[in-house]
Amino acid sequence: MRYAYYTLAFVVVLLISVMGFRGMKATQPPIEVFPDMDHQAKYKPQAESKFFADARADRPMPAGTVPYGRGTGVEPGRDFHDPAFLRADDFRYAGKAADGSFARGFPVPVTKELLQRGQGRYAIYCAPCHGALGDGNGITKPYGMLAAATYHDDRLRGMAEGEIFNTITNGKNTMLSYADKLSPDDRWAVVAYVRALQRARHATIADVPADQRGGLK
Ligand code: HEC
Repeated sequence: MRYAYYTLAFVVVLLISVMGFRGMKATQPPIEVFPDMDHQAKYKPQAESKFFADARADRPMPAGTVPYGRGTGVEPGRDFHDPAFLRADDFRYAGKAADGSFARGFPVPVTKELLQRGQGRYAIYCAPCHGALGDGNGITKPYGMLAAATYHDDRLRGMAEGEIFNTITNGKNTMLSYADKLSPDDRWAVVAYVRALQRARHATIADVPADQRGGLK
């Protein structure tokens, strides 16, 4: 029995010498049995480095670096990719001419690829309301979306490309904005396709190549 008391006293002294009293401040870091990945070779912000000649751990940015991912863009809250200063081109990003009016024409080359891109985006984002032909007879009409405009009246045929771009960007009355779904260049592709739909509706025999006119019924 006596040995049991000695052993207990010994264990108590041992424990106190290793762990200390409650509330004691330790000068050494705690013993870590499983360090996991707590300690890694890394630099903290603005720390010193022995590796670089100028002793700065923060490296200067390479020339030509542009910020990405934090901008609010010209459409606040919608575009998280391009800061506003990267969108300094009003024609391309707002559809506006230098005098602030809606611009005519396209800021990007109108190619077959652009039209095909526009056709695809149009089918996804516009045709449900405006219809595959742009006549306002989309699938949503039987469900009550009666106001979707036809592109084939004179006002819309005469409308500047920049204004159509603006409608896609900001919406109009009951039509919502598509700026979060279509990048600016995709919007121009859709505008080009809207123009193609308008042209197709008002095509004349002169638009058909001469050697194919005979096949028309
Ligand atoms: C959810 C249905 C809906 C979708 C999808 C939709 N629109 Fe519209 N759009 C409307 C309605 C409704 C109007 C009429 C708004 C008004 O003037 O009251 C309209 C009007 C327009 C106008 C005429 C604006 C004017 O100045 O009168 C254009 C151009 C247009 N839309 C283009 C598009 C394009 C391009 C897309 C695809 C990116 C699209 N819309 C997608 C419902 C829609």
